[in-house]
Amino acid sequence: MRGKRTTLVHLIYFSRLSLSSEPQLRTSQIGDITRQAQKKNEFSVITSFLMIDQNFAAQVIEGERTLVHETFNRITEDQRHRDVLICEWREIPKREFVSSFKVVVRGGASEAQFAKANLMPAFQRGTPKASAILALASALQTDAMSKQGIDHLFI
Ligand SMILES: Cc1cc2nc3c(=O)[nH]c(=O)nc-3n(C[C@H](O)[C@H](O)[C@H](O)COP(=O)(O)O)c2cc1C
Repeated sequence: MRGKRTTLVHLIYFSRLSLSSEPQLRTSQIGDITRQAQKKNEFSVITSFLMIDQNFAAQVIEGERTLVHETFNRITEDQRHRDVLICEWREIPKREFVSSFKVVVRGGASEAQFAKANLMPAFQRGTPKASAILALASALQTDAMSKQGIDHLFI
C-alpha cells in the first residue's frame, strides 16, 4: 500500500503583539488581520484559532504540512507582532477546529475560560504549554458553537 500523499499537522505558537493600546484602533487592526488571514487560510485549506490575552497572542494552525509551513513563515515576518515562538509542531490524526480563522480576545463572554486557563504567568515566563493553549482554544470554540446551537455535531 502506498502512503498518504498529504500529512495533516498542527502548529501552535505564541507571540507578543505590537498593536495599538487605543481600543478602537486595536479592534480595527485585529479586523485587518482577520480579513487577510481568513482569505489566505481558506485558499490553503487551513483551519486556525487565535487567542489574544492583553499583548500576547497564541494561535493553533492546522492543515497540510507544507501549507502550514508557508503560512507560518508569513506570520513570523509580520511586524504586528514579535518574539514568535513555536510551542509545538506535530502530525495530527484529524482537525480540531472548524473555521479558517477565528479570533477570540480575552474579556466579556470569554473571560471565564481565559481565567480558568490562567496562561498569563506562563506567557510572561515564555513557557506556555502547547496542551494548555490547545485546551483553551478548544473550550472557546465549544462555547462559541453552543451559543449558535451547534453542540451535537462533533461528538
Ligand atoms: C497574530 C497574527 C496571526 C495571523 N494569522 C494568520 C493566519 O492564520 N493566516 C494567514 O495567512 N495570515 C495570518 N496573519 C497575517 C500574516 O502575517 C500576513 O500579514 C498575511 O498572511 C498576508 O501576507 P502577505 O502580505 O505576505 O500576502 C496573522 C498575523 C498576525 C499578526
